[in-house]
Amino acid sequence: MRDLLIECYKIEKLAEKVYMQFADNSAYSKAVSETFREMATEEREHARIIDMFMQTPEHELDATPSLTKDQMDEMLRLAKGLLVCAEKSDLSANEAMKLALQVEEQLVQAHANNALSPGSPKLTAFFADLSQYDRDHIDKLQACIDARQQQSVTD
Ligand SMILES: [Fe+2]
Repeated sequence: MRDLLIECYKIEKLAEKVYMQFADNSAYSKAVSETFREMATEEREHARIIDMFMQTPEHELDATPSLTKDQMDEMLRLAKGLLVCAEKSDLSANEAMKLALQVEEQLVQAHANNALSPGSPKLTAFFADLSQYDRDHIDKLQACIDARQQQSVTD
């Protein structure tokens, strides 16, 4: 289970980098940059929460993860791919937000699946929290996308 938590930590740190990269893209509007900056700050906080959670005594983390290591590796690959895109800075703001939305949607699912891992109520609650954080990010991205649509911004 500890391996899985380390993967989750890495994903949060990658997401922080991706969102910071998007936030610093000078081609994006202030509203988009601010949304990404807030999200980057939140990802940093999520990584910190995971780091703290890893101090939990081993016997309390005794559960079999619902997701396999391969599935988590796939999530990590996805996040790394997003970072490559972000670093190239050639995505439009809409594309960046849609990609971020897709990644967050996969993460909600991954964390929700892990919340179903039998054996540790502590882990169940923890993954349910992580899943909720991703859902909050989906809402935030969607709100930004909707606001732009209303203003007919297409860049
Ligand atoms: Fe997160």
